[in-house]
Amino acid sequence: METRYAHLAATLRDGIHAGLYRTGDRMPGLRALSAQRGVSVATAVMAYRQLEQEGYLEARERSGFYVRLRSTAQAPEPAVSAPALRPAPVSGQEVVLRLVKATYDPHIVQLGAAVPAPEFLPMRAVERSLVAAARLHRARASSYAFPPGDPELRRLIARRMGEIGCPTHPDEILITNGCQEALTLALRAVTEPGDVVAIESPSYYGLLQVIESLGLEALEIPTHPREGLSLEALQLALERWPVKACVAVPNFSNPLGYRMPDANKRRLLELLGQAGVPLIEDDIYGDLGFDAQRPRPCKGLDRKADVLYCASFSKSLSPGLRVGWIVPGPHLKRVEYLKYVGNLATSSVPQIAVAELLASGQYDRHLRAVRGQYAAAVKRMTEAVIRHFPPDIRITQPEGGFVIWIELPKGVDSMQLARHALAEGVSIAPGPIFSATRKYKNFVRLSCACQWDARIERALATLARLL
Ligand SMILES: Cc1ncc(COP(=O)(O)O)c(C=O)c1O
Repeated sequence: METRYAHLAATLRDGIHAGLYRTGDRMPGLRALSAQRGVSVATAVMAYRQLEQEGYLEARERSGFYVRLRSTAQAPEPAVSAPALRPAPVSGQEVVLRLVKATYDPHIVQLGAAVPAPEFLPMRAVERSLVAAARLHRARASSYAFPPGDPELRRLIARRMGEIGCPTHPDEILITNGCQEALTLALRAVTEPGDVVAIESPSYYGLLQVIESLGLEALEIPTHPREGLSLEALQLALERWPVKACVAVPNFSNPLGYRMPDANKRRLLELLGQAGVPLIEDDIYGDLGFDAQRPRPCKGLDRKADVLYCASFSKSLSPGLRVGWIVPGPHLKRVEYLKYVGNLATSSVPQIAVAELLASGQYDRHLRAVRGQYAAAVKRMTEAVIRHFPPDIRITQPEGGFVIWIELPKGVDSMQLARHALAEGVSIAPGPIFSATRKYKNFVRLSCACQWDARIERALATLARLL
């Protein structure tokens, strides 16, 4: 049961978040607070002390308690990354499995894996559509949905792709087991072991693992936290190295959260086209922008460009459905064959369920609601990090998705921080797993899509103490 002081602290915390008390405001005096809220002075003291510990308030001698909330403007963004422009095999990805396994443990506060908490997912709608899929479509649900996958789902995805400025025929689409399989198939279709692949830096660690498992070399390209891949650096890299593919997440990348401007997307296609290098476009976060205007994928900007478009419903509907897709362009036949020999088919029931969620408009309704939720979650986490962490940090300001990338003071070893934090029940994603060559030693990524409660505040206080 929540104690009286914890309840009072929570009410005051909500007041601070809602702007009732602003940075620098003096909080009501202890006697006034106890009279207003009908609690003892001792309870009021304990509530203020709790908020002081969490970094919301500071006590000033003989003057009382003041709000300490600092604005996000006080945390600048990290600079453009500066990886060595040289291909390298991927190393050090073993720790990732430990990170991912932590998501099973309910005692661990999950700030590490980019998995949305159930509050951000349309759980009831997904559940209903799964049941309906199994009951109402028995024959379809119980047979293989051989590649390219369920025709109705492909028709509805094609319709959506047209709506986001990327006209696509259902026959150009192949259903996959999530975006991870789409990326793997794309890379397998256009590379051979030993080939060089240009990627963003920092880059989603799952991609690094695919690159490692296929025996490829990663060429990390400097990346701007607002605009994405540095096109000048990419051009140099293309002139210098035998790059066979380029992978990018132009809409709300993971972990930087940037949205590449359309002009840069066009230039990216141009540069790659001139070099004869296919683009593997990962658009998994494309529907999760904070702005109602859905950004266009690169694929939609030039119909003739060699783009293998990959996406999934893992972040928008449910990661457990394992439904994704790929539009591989001229590589369709190869990708289809690789999918077939890899695992024959993607499960039928989730495909039918997703088709139903798209057809009924529930997917769009959910997106309209969840975009604001993600924006608020990122803002709240950013503010809390600024409150708790040392002042000399830098934080990205994503325009979509739900992760933030934090540069910690120089000298911090985020791998060590992650180990100690896990021992104290907090999971975070340390910077080096986002680099083929284990750069970003003093960076961490935090997921903001968590249910906000006192545990999160305590987890951030724990991280701050360990720092
Ligand atoms: C950028 C990016 N691509 C792909 C994936 C994998 O997606 P899925 O769960 O659909 O396989 C993730 C998951 O975190 C991701 O962040």
